Amino acid sequence: MNDLEEKLTKYFKWFHMHPELSYEEYETTEKIKEILTKAGVEILPYDLKTGLIACIRGEKPGPVQALRCDIDALPIREETGLSYASCCEGRMHACGHDFHIITGIGCAILLNERKDQLAGTVKIIFQPAEEAAMGALQILETDVMEDVDRIWGIHADPTNETGVLGIREGYVTAAVDRFVVEIKGTGCHGAHPDDGVDPIPAAAAVIQAFQTIVTRNANAFHPTLISVTRLQAGNTWNVIPETAQLEGTVRTMNREDRALFERRIKEIAESTAQAYGAAAEVQWIQGPPATYNDKEMACYSMQRGQERGFQIVPEESSLGGDDFAFLEENIPGCYLKIGTGKGQLIHQPGFQVDTSVIMPTVEYVVSLFI
Ligand code: NI
Repeated sequence: MNDLEEKLTKYFKWFHMHPELSYEEYETTEKIKEILTKAGVEILPYDLKTGLIACIRGEKPGPVQALRCDIDALPIREETGLSYASCCEGRMHACGHDFHIITGIGCAILLNERKDQLAGTVKIIFQPAEEAAMGALQILETDVMEDVDRIWGIHADPTNETGVLGIREGYVTAAVDRFVVEIKGTGCHGAHPDDGVDPIPAAAAVIQAFQTIVTRNANAFHPTLISVTRLQAGNTWNVIPETAQLEGTVRTMNREDRALFERRIKEIAESTAQAYGAAAEVQWIQGPPATYNDKEMACYSMQRGQERGFQIVPEESSLGGDDFAFLEENIPGCYLKIGTGKGQLIHQPGFQVDTSVIMPTVEYVVSLFI
């Protein structure tokens, strides 16, 4: 183990032990700042509450590239039994963002040492609040992305062994949208439904009909999904309530399907409720778009991976989302999955990263820039 590997492994364990939730990554930010400052890495003077942006300016001319590393943890009680398990009760780095942090730190240190070989500039974005699906918007509120030509993202992947990279061109994560439907009827006695308008059968009909958007409206070759995840109405057994509320999520992989779902959800909710004598109001809350891997960047990253002895497998696409998609909406981007050892999946209490993957990942990501 060389000096840097030893240091990075030690820092990784520190970050793993000190997980912080979305928008609360104060200690994490301070620690990253401390490590990078000590290594002589430039930190851009943005006034972010949490998160920070490091910048490495190469000695040769070239493009401006960015690497996004998210830094937040989850409200999960860790059950890994690791000697360096979380020391914050009920909080855990269960999505590998501690690994993303250390990859970003390692890349910043190495690129800074190899500035003479670097053509162009690399901005390393330590982004807060990915789990809230909106942290990337804070980054976009600054002008940091304005001169960026292309952006890379990485994610830990416990479905693959170390030494394996999942890379693919095209859509890899879904657009994440949320809807809330309020169905308004007229409350009355449970024994006299004829005196009111019961919103509950209307809600049930709406929920059933929503699934036909996937099976009857969307192209059968496009992955799409709608889940109603909350249904609320009434508070006792003998009163018909006035309203019913349902909420859920839609996942799609392209703009057209996204617009289709938004339109059909409104049509179905409003007209079905009306057919039952009730009225529906739909709120559509747009989250990040789908992540699209640029073809040229995907090919290039595969080639670099092969040169460094990684096995390349097709990246599995997921109807999960990542707010990385906000950052690459208007520029080419590529989101890579790094095998971190097979085990419990992300967002599970037993999820862990094999620390032997840290240094090879850092060297690999550096090779994308040099
Ligand atoms: Ni994640």
